[in-house]
Amino acid sequence: MKEMPASHAYRLLEPGPIVLVTTAQNGKANVMTMGFHMMVQHAPPLIGCVIGPWDHSYRALCESRECVIAIPTVDLARTVVDIGNCSGDKVDKFEKFGLSPLSAQDVGPPLIGECLANIECRIADDTMVETYSLFLLEALRIWIDSDRKERRTLHHKGDGSFTVDGEVVDLRERMVKWRQLPD
Ligand SMILES: Cc1cc2nc3c(=O)[nH]c(=O)nc-3n(C[C@H](O)[C@H](O)[C@H](O)COP(=O)(O)O)c2cc1C
Repeated sequence: MKEMPASHAYRLLEPGPIVLVTTAQNGKANVMTMGFHMMVQHAPPLIGCVIGPWDHSYRALCESRECVIAIPTVDLARTVVDIGNCSGDKVDKFEKFGLSPLSAQDVGPPLIGECLANIECRIADDTMVETYSLFLLEALRIWIDSDRKERRTLHHKGDGSFTVDGEVVDLRERMVKWRQLPD
């Protein structure tokens, strides 16, 4: 085996689909792209998210303590990358990228109509924000577009290239120790 830089661990451990995060500050909605996230707990459902202090979204999240994690599919790939390459400090990204903001039920920031699913979230623990920019968010409510045909999510390889969901390997029969997990 050849050695590779330890700093590239994130390229091997891609945690899940690339997502969009919406926030709102002074009544103005914004959106960013996020790849550094992970599930931390089943119940209540907790999600760890790294959002850097250089992002407009960081300041909005710290202030309002709420956000929406929206799950885009492959048809939005180029938009997703462009959203992560400009800042809400300078541009209204909902307008620029033609995204439809939909009202959430329990939080201020909007859902994104063009996404497969939207998770309304509130900060559950911010004790690791100063050290790691790591927010622990509680998922309060999930909305899913069950009529949507395109359902393949994008997975960031860490270098601006992405894999797209493909073949499903159904091994539910073998999950004998984990039968209690809900469908
Ligand atoms: C594929 C991709 C993944 C990204 N993942 C993250 C991430 O996990 N955390 C983060 O803070 N920024 C991440 N970014 C960068 C932000 O999306 C970017 O800084 C964005 O401009 C922030 O927007 P804002 O200033 O409007 O909040 C990512 C960008 C791209 C393109």
